[in-house]
Order: sequence, then structure tokens, then C-alpha cells
Amino acid sequence: MPASVILLAGAPGIGKSTLLLQLASRLTGAGHPCLLASGEEARGQVAARARRLGIEGAALGYLVGRNLGDVLAAARTERPRVLIVDSIQAIRDPDVDALPGGVAQVRACTDALISLAKEEGITVLLVGHVTKGGDLAGPRTLEHAVDSALTFEGDIRSGLRILTGGKNRYGPEGEVAWFEMTSEGLVETEAGPPRSGAREAGCATGIVLAGRRAFAAEVQALVVPAEGPPRRQVSGLDPRRFHIVAAVTDRALGLRLSRCELFGTSSGGLRVDDPGVDLAVAAALASASGGRAPPRDVAFVGEVSLTGMVRPVPGMEARLSAASAAGLNELVVAAGSSSGPAHRPQARVTYVAHLRDALSWAVAR
Ligand code: TYD
Ligand code: MG
Repeated sequence: MPASVILLAGAPGIGKSTLLLQLASRLTGAGHPCLLASGEEARGQVAARARRLGIEGAALGYLVGRNLGDVLAAARTERPRVLIVDSIQAIRDPDVDALPGGVAQVRACTDALISLAKEEGITVLLVGHVTKGGDLAGPRTLEHAVDSALTFEGDIRSGLRILTGGKNRYGPEGEVAWFEMTSEGLVETEAGPPRSGAREAGCATGIVLAGRRAFAAEVQALVVPAEGPPRRQVSGLDPRRFHIVAAVTDRALGLRLSRCELFGTSSGGLRVDDPGVDLAVAAALASASGGRAPPRDVAFVGEVSLTGMVRPVPGMEARLSAASAAGLNELVVAAGSSSGPAHRPQARVTYVAHLRDALSWAVAR
């Protein structure tokens, strides 16, 4: 959107500069001049990266992005269509007596860049580094000031990257795109996160909805007897929902989890924020508890209520297509779920009302 200000937040090394360089190359190629103000990389470093990526760096304007005044002046004379500021932590307003990266500097620079965007009609892309905990003052306090906020995350080792649209003043929120970091830079992939596909106790497949897209994802659980006060540890999943689903599953199937340590994780460290994976979490827990693997190539989709009922979730059409695309044979879904696309998906659909019906394979007869 012209004159909008977009924040791209992510951990250092995740690929923000690479993504924006590839974007700038496409934009300049399509006749939209871009100006890159980098406070982190010198012209030669950017040019070397562009060469390695096999993209034409010559059309992209570059300046050192460490001084706010220089960047504003360059943007006002060169009038690019898009200004990239990499990063908001590296730029400094000399009128503000504070170190770059601190809240005062970040706020002052962002405010000035927002004014630039609105006055000159330039789209401004801001890079913001987020620490591992995600709680750095900079990008978080920025979110309310900008028009749109994008998060770039993933597993640095696996090469999978997920771009998620958060706040958006001009369009839908929650859209996602996946990329793979290759030797030729970031390549968009349709496949979603990798799954082991193995039949193991404690591992269940769910179909996650993110924006308009859905993808198959694995959830893993571990249940072990506790020596002392039992721990509950979760990564990638919503801890609050995990605890509730564990309690409800325990009660519904009589698993005796209260004296056990419980661990839950999503495959690839992917952050899953969708009540539709409740049933997969319940399946993983029940499977881990009883030592029985779920049936092969089955995915579980539904929200779990406090009473143990399985509730329908939105986006069934996208989820059914994703299940077929992932080669799953069967989908266990809540009774009353919309039946999905007009063309029958390849995956068989089984409707269940209660956790007991969905997880009968997990309990000893
Ligand atoms: P970078 O874009 O510099 O991350 P950020 O700006 O978010 O800090 O990319 C970081 C990593 O990506 C770096 O460790 C090297 C890797 N990379 C590749 O694997 N392939 C490539 O083509 C490029 C350009 C980078
Ligand atoms: Mg960078």
C-alpha cells in the first residue's frame, strides 16, 4: 500500500535482510525504484549478497542508514517508491540523547519515518530485530505505530521460514507464507512444515489454519511419571490451551496424568495458535500416555471443550484440501463440521462428538 509503514520483525539471522533484498530486486525490476538504507551492512556487503543471490543490485539505491537526517534527506530528493530501513535499531536521531536501539531512539526514528511516508507517499519497510524471548522493547512498542506488522520466524537450522501477517490496517490479518532458505536465497514453498510421517506413540498430526491457508503439522507429547511436583513444559503450542486439553483428556479417558510430567511441542518449533489443533494435542497426549501410536496417516481436527466434547472449527474447506495434499488417508473431525469442498477430498472423513470416540484407539480394552 503506498504511503504505508510496514514492520518486518524477526530474530537476528532469520533472513530479514535477504527477504527484503529479494523483494527490492523484484520491485525495481517491475519499475518501482527502491532505496535501501542499511545501518548494518556496507554497500559492498549488500552488493556481494545481491551477486550471490543472482539479482541485479545496480538498480537498487543504497545509503548508509545510521543517521536519520541523512536517510530522510535522501528519500526526499530521490523519491523512491519504497524505502527500506535495515534496521530500526541501527538508525539514530542525533537530536535524541540516547543510544540507538533504545526505546527513545526507536520511537523518535519511527515517528519521523511515518511522517515521511505520509507526506511523500513513500512506502516504508522497517526491519526490527526481536530477541529470542520476543520481548525486546523496540519492535513490540513499534507495532501500534505502524500500519502493518509482519513476523518472520522459523527454525534457523531446518531452513524453513514462516512469514506471518499480524496487524494490518489495509487488508486481512493472519496471512502466512513459507520459505526455504537455500544457497540461492529464500524460495517460497507451498508444502508447509516438514513432517516425519512416522507412526510413533506420542506423535499426532493436526491441520493448522493460518490466515486463509492450512497445513498439516505434527504435535508431540511426552508423559513421564514425576518424582517431585510434576512439570508441564510446552514449546510452539499455547501453554494455557495445552494444560486445559491435558486436563480434559485425562478426565475423559481416565489417563491418570496428574502425577505425570507433561511435555508438548509442535514439529519444527512452529508456533501454532489455532484451537483446531486441540484434538491433535489430545491425541498426542493420549497416545504418549498409553504407548499406542495413532492410526497411520490420520489427522485430527477440532476444538476440545471443557466437557470433553469435540467442537467444529472454521476453515474446514482449506483444512480438507491440505490433508489431501499432505497425503493423509483419514481426517477425524468434530460432528457438525462443514463438509468441505464440493469435490470429495481423497481423505476419508470421520465425525466424532466426544474425545472418547476420537481417541478409542489409545485406550486399552
Ligand atoms: P540475513 O538476511 O542476513 O538475516 P537477518 O537480516 O534477519 O539478520 O540472513 C541470515 C542467514 O541466511 C545467514 O546466516 C546466511 C543465510 N543465507 C543463506 O543460507 N542463503 C543465502 O542465499 C543468503 C543470502 C543467506
Ligand atoms: Mg540483516
